[in-house]
Amino acid sequence: MSPESRPVAGFQADPEFFRLEERTEFDAGLVLEVLQGRRLGVMFRGVIPAEAQKESVARFWSSPARRHREGEPSHYIGSYHWNKSTETYLAETEKITADVREVLDVPGSPWQSFRDGLADELARHGAVLRIAEHEGAEACPALVRAWDKEGSFALEPHEDEAQCGDPRQAGFEIQGVRDHEVCAVNMCVEHEEGGRLVIWNIRPDAESRRRLGIEHTGFSYPAEALAGFDELRIEVGRGDVYVFNGAYVHAVDASTGNRTNLSFLMGFIDDRTVVSWT
Ligand SMILES: [Fe+2]
Repeated sequence: MSPESRPVAGFQADPEFFRLEERTEFDAGLVLEVLQGRRLGVMFRGVIPAEAQKESVARFWSSPARRHREGEPSHYIGSYHWNKSTETYLAETEKITADVREVLDVPGSPWQSFRDGLADELARHGAVLRIAEHEGAEACPALVRAWDKEGSFALEPHEDEAQCGDPRQAGFEIQGVRDHEVCAVNMCVEHEEGGRLVIWNIRPDAESRRRLGIEHTGFSYPAEALAGFDELRIEVGRGDVYVFNGAYVHAVDASTGNRTNLSFLMGFIDDRTVVSWT
């Protein structure tokens, strides 16, 4: 058996925990439970107003800042901290934030509604929500991305925790999330077919990451190495907002046509502070 195909090891949740709660109205209390590690995730169906979806999609596709690299399965606007230094991330962020905000700041903005709702809930618990900072610079408010890849996965199996320990980002406050829970927030504004969210019941340990050579990236886990774990396959539709614990291995399965999402990561970095970044 090659090291790549050996199963990964780590923590597996109880079967009762390993599910996504579904609602048709936003409930910030459930999001707080995900942040606190008391819930795997929550799916809010159809909560983004139709006009806001339409306007977000129109602004995304017409934006001069939209990027697409030949051979890569996505179009995107925004920056991401994954696999680079804090300085590089923040420099890239500074250049693109105004363009990202242009897509986020639509009437009925799902990004703003989500954050306002969560901030109110956190305030009741003496905590705040803010964008992560470093030496006076701010992280990117969101990554707007359209997947258009066919094949087995549009986004390969990975987790979002390993990337929060990259030594090139030592001293960046987001690394505090490793003592809490890293949560992925996604808002779907355009969707044709497929592109389900897949989550496996495994939080890989450091040894498994090292063996796969993905200690600081968490990307990617070979599908064969995940075959023995329970998995959830969750349909995602236009207007859906969902939040889940990103330390569990997850992926986006094959999609047909465009699947456009606003996304960011967030987590507590101390008892009173939730920060977000991309
Ligand atoms: Fe992820």
